[in-house]
Amino acid sequence: MSINFDESKKIFHLTTSHSSYQFKIDKYGFLLHLYYGKRTEQLADFVLTYIDRGFSGNPYDAGNDRTYSLDVLPQEFPVTGTGDYRNTALLIENAMGCTGCDLRYQSHCIRKGKYSLKGLPAVYASESEAETLEIILRDSVLDLEVTLLYGVLEDYDVITRSAIVKNRDKQTIYIHKASSACLDFVNGKYDVISFYGRHTMERNVERTHIGHHTYEIGSRRGTSSHHYNPMLIVTEEDATEDAGNCYAMSFVYSGGFEASAEMDQMEQTRVLMGLQPEQLHYALKQDDEFIVPEVILSYSAQGLNQLSYHLQKTIRQHVCRGIYQTKIRPVLVNSWEASYYNIDGNHLCELAKQAVELGIDMLVMDDGWFGKRDDDNSGLGDWVVNEEKLGMTLSELIARVNAYGVKFGIWIEPEMVSEDSNLYRLHPDWAMAIPGRNPVRGRNQLVLDFSRKEVVDAVYNQISQILDSNHIEYIKWDMNRSILDVYSHSAENQGNVLYDYVLGLYDFLERLHVNYPQILIEGCSGGGGRFDAGMLYYTPQIWCSDNTDAIDRLYIQYGTSFGYPISAVGSHVSASPNHQTGRIVSLETRGIVAMSGTFGYELDLTELTESEKKIIKEQVKRYKELAPLILDGRYYRLSNPRQDKVTAWQYISEDQNEILLYAVQTELHSNMAPIYIQFRGLKHGAVYKDTDSGICYAADILMEVGLPLLPELQEYQSYQMHLIIQKERF
Ligand code: GLA
Repeated sequence: MSINFDESKKIFHLTTSHSSYQFKIDKYGFLLHLYYGKRTEQLADFVLTYIDRGFSGNPYDAGNDRTYSLDVLPQEFPVTGTGDYRNTALLIENAMGCTGCDLRYQSHCIRKGKYSLKGLPAVYASESEAETLEIILRDSVLDLEVTLLYGVLEDYDVITRSAIVKNRDKQTIYIHKASSACLDFVNGKYDVISFYGRHTMERNVERTHIGHHTYEIGSRRGTSSHHYNPMLIVTEEDATEDAGNCYAMSFVYSGGFEASAEMDQMEQTRVLMGLQPEQLHYALKQDDEFIVPEVILSYSAQGLNQLSYHLQKTIRQHVCRGIYQTKIRPVLVNSWEASYYNIDGNHLCELAKQAVELGIDMLVMDDGWFGKRDDDNSGLGDWVVNEEKLGMTLSELIARVNAYGVKFGIWIEPEMVSEDSNLYRLHPDWAMAIPGRNPVRGRNQLVLDFSRKEVVDAVYNQISQILDSNHIEYIKWDMNRSILDVYSHSAENQGNVLYDYVLGLYDFLERLHVNYPQILIEGCSGGGGRFDAGMLYYTPQIWCSDNTDAIDRLYIQYGTSFGYPISAVGSHVSASPNHQTGRIVSLETRGIVAMSGTFGYELDLTELTESEKKIIKEQVKRYKELAPLILDGRYYRLSNPRQDKVTAWQYISEDQNEILLYAVQTELHSNMAPIYIQFRGLKHGAVYKDTDSGICYAADILMEVGLPLLPELQEYQSYQMHLIIQKERF
């Protein structure tokens, strides 16, 4: 049993292989958090302290006891209204405009399996892999019920959390803030690591000390965004890649979010993750329910590499779905950086012909194939093949591509509309715009109101017609602007629209998942602008960034690896000089960087020289051989690209018998000291053999001293090494 309830002490104890999570129902019915950390069999109720603190109020039930205050006690689901003046998880407004609620324990149940959330993505697991704890809390004055949900995946060291708010009263209530999880630490000094960025430079890593302030990140863009990823890591001050306590919170949601961390007056730390509150003003009518999306929590006592391993494994095996979940994805060539909007059928066929010679499995026709779409100013919303531009029908094109033995995929951007489109001329009110105001344009396009079912249906019907009449095996689902001017013609309450928009998006994606199970869907939002665990439930891979520069990708993919599996990272080799940075990088190095994900090419294959073709053929072959190790092996970050002169990373098979090392030298100076790469996670005492050179290496020396890399007279030199276990003992 991974969920236990101690009746006498009223303590819930959730355990995973290496962690314990405890909280109790106290004498007033409040849930007080006790402990999250290294696994223990003991109960932690003695960590609570009761001391009279000035200006920290006491609940009425406590009578004259001034030592009991929710302003300083650690809590499981803190709400505004019970005397807690810190950041809280829930803020409710009643029909009179009064804020606050008071939730007390009512009942609980423990069951096998993992709960699911209606209309929202969530971690899934079988009855033997997970347990669920459901706790019902109630505010008797508001007649409001909140169900706290906990899912425990013991072997994954993961606990998930979510909450469902139900209004039983006839008066409508308004939800202004809703977080899925709160972590309260009564003691300790912590850092927080966030993943900030911008278009074409996503998920940079920033580590900040949590002091006496509110540290806050989030997105008001209606999507999880390029700017802050919906994932937060909290570490002890001295935690490193290999040691120390650290905690992750990963939001399984693709809309706006907010994560905060603060140290309170008593040096206690509180961390919250949930929905973006400024844009939430959710009207909940009698008997309606509001589901707060899920957060994945994980704990590691062995530093960040271990924490990433938990998240990567959980997302790959218990969030991603479909036939491609664990399959090696096709190596593809995408037309975008090859020809941008200037696509035509014959040229695409030439690409396919070249692709098959190189061993590439799939051709993806990116933007430009539909409606009037010669640039980004028109056409979105008209999902009708532009046969004139292609010079043939789509079926003819696909038949020709398939005849070469190459699969075919297309790009779509269903959530958007161009003002210059038939859809917009017919239904201007389907685009988001506030009455009486001109909307803000982004990439000269407007956002369709996906909170309306008829809008989702109409676009779905257009897209499904294309899918039904053509042999399409892959879709790239794009989304190329931030949302603003939130207004829906059909909404009674505009505060519901952004949340309902995300439900509409998930509904569309779920229909594709169910009705077209054979199609591989790649998520994309101007690259990695919606790279989150929510999207990964529907699209097992996401185009990691519109930046295909191999050196910039080292930083982007390094940051991404903290929370997401390698199999989720869409990564392609593009032309040199690179189109985004102008940087010149060798084809070998571009290949190594792109191989750390779902591999492909994004350049005009018909312009390759003979020697480039030779290298690419070799790369594709090598990727296909190594893909099981890259995608299923355990991934380790071996250096920090912002601090070290070499960016190195390693894959090791679960049985520790096979290793792949990749490294790229990012700094080059005259007369440099040798750089040693220290391997991780090898079998102690074993000997590994380099499959290229035949040289044998002692595992412990590779881990203790490391392997010296010798700089050559070439910028961005890359290194790769494939090792197989030779002997278990030296
Ligand atoms: C976005 C994507 C690109 C490409 C273009 C097409 O920017 O991230 O990969 O598909 O749109 O317009």
